[in-house]
Amino acid sequence: MSLVCFPFKEEDVSVVVRNVECAASHTSVAGVLCVGFSKGETWHAIESAKPAIEHSTGKPVILLQQRRIGTSLRGGKGDGMNTALIYLLDNTEYKGLHFYDADIVSFSAEWISKAEKQADLDYDVVRHYFPRSSTDAMITWLVTKIGFALLWPNSILPVIEQPLGGELYLSKKAAEILIADPRVRDQSDWGIDTLYTFVMAQKGLRMAEVYVPEGKVHALYGGLQDLRKMLVECFAAIQSLRHEVIVAESRHRIENPRPVPETVKQKIGYDIEKTLKLLKSNWSPRQKDLLQQYFDPALAKGMLHSMEWPCWSFADEDAWISAYQKLLDHFEKGDFDWEELLFKIWVARVLNHTMKNVIRGYDVALGSLRDFVSETQHKAAIQLKASSAAAANIAAHPIASGHTAMEGLSNGHQSRRKTNWSNIGAASTVQ
Ligand code: DGY
Repeated sequence: MSLVCFPFKEEDVSVVVRNVECAASHTSVAGVLCVGFSKGETWHAIESAKPAIEHSTGKPVILLQQRRIGTSLRGGKGDGMNTALIYLLDNTEYKGLHFYDADIVSFSAEWISKAEKQADLDYDVVRHYFPRSSTDAMITWLVTKIGFALLWPNSILPVIEQPLGGELYLSKKAAEILIADPRVRDQSDWGIDTLYTFVMAQKGLRMAEVYVPEGKVHALYGGLQDLRKMLVECFAAIQSLRHEVIVAESRHRIENPRPVPETVKQKIGYDIEKTLKLLKSNWSPRQKDLLQQYFDPALAKGMLHSMEWPCWSFADEDAWISAYQKLLDHFEKGDFDWEELLFKIWVARVLNHTMKNVIRGYDVALGSLRDFVSETQHKAAIQLKASSAAAANIAAHPIASGHTAMEGLSNGHQSRRKTNWSNIGAASTVQ
């Protein structure tokens, strides 16, 4: 029997309580763990509902305040999820742990059943995925999936549908592997999903993805400003992993999607009017210098124009890849100007996607995002193959090439990406 965890902050209390009760009533669930960021209104509502839920279901509802586990980053979602992993491993009666966001209005017993069916087949990790609005998931698509495609094109990472998803099942083995990893314990902020997904792939865990057709109905956001912190933390998490290597092969199964409901197709993920202003805000002389020093002239020019009047046509797919590589090399988390540049370039890219693809309809928009990831993955894999062949050639002919074998190998590994496709993936992975 499993444990279900709902990490929470301040949520719609009736939704959370209903979800806790639904999880506790499931026949495969032996207990529900609610991990709170703080002891606010939601905490007290769960505390009041707990006796009745325990009485009607016969299962314990455990309320825990999240521990401070990471030491260097802000305490946030990562500490909450890691608190739950530690609880699972300290309480040996559970075979595994489900995570669900507490605010999902469309949550049902089926979410748990789907994951349990795959857990019965001994998958270490079961991830839920669902249809999302064509203007939602802009960090997932542009930061996480593109980063995975660029850096580890031959791994399973770029094909994982929703690598930042907070709905997943972990076996005890998966929980042990994750929490034993110091990179995971330290990632106390929004970067935790990136770390979990990365480590799952790096350790070769068996992974299944299940499809939830009704989608995740939950609160969306206002302007893209609401996502700034998450963007910075998710990008910094990828950046922290950029020199890592993946050699493991993971077994990966994915359930086919179904037709996307009209409600999801018609949903606008963010407030466009509020977002336009962001391109003009918070400029400093140093940001302009950094733009001119590190980024392609066309991007720098476009960004500087958008100080006067919002514009985005320059922020196409190639411009984003090129900027992403510069950011991987130079971005400094905690430095306001770097964070603001990352944010504004990403805003321009999201607006470009919205105005160029989303207005042509849901299927075109989603198709363009999928193509962007798979093209990036393909080009990075080709480049990786070419640089491995070049390194092998130098190693095989050290005298003719003027290098010792050792130099040849080390040069191969150090030929870090520069600004264009000819350097993508170079030496970032051995796959
Ligand atoms: C993402 O990009 O997946 C974030 O949840 C924002 O939608």
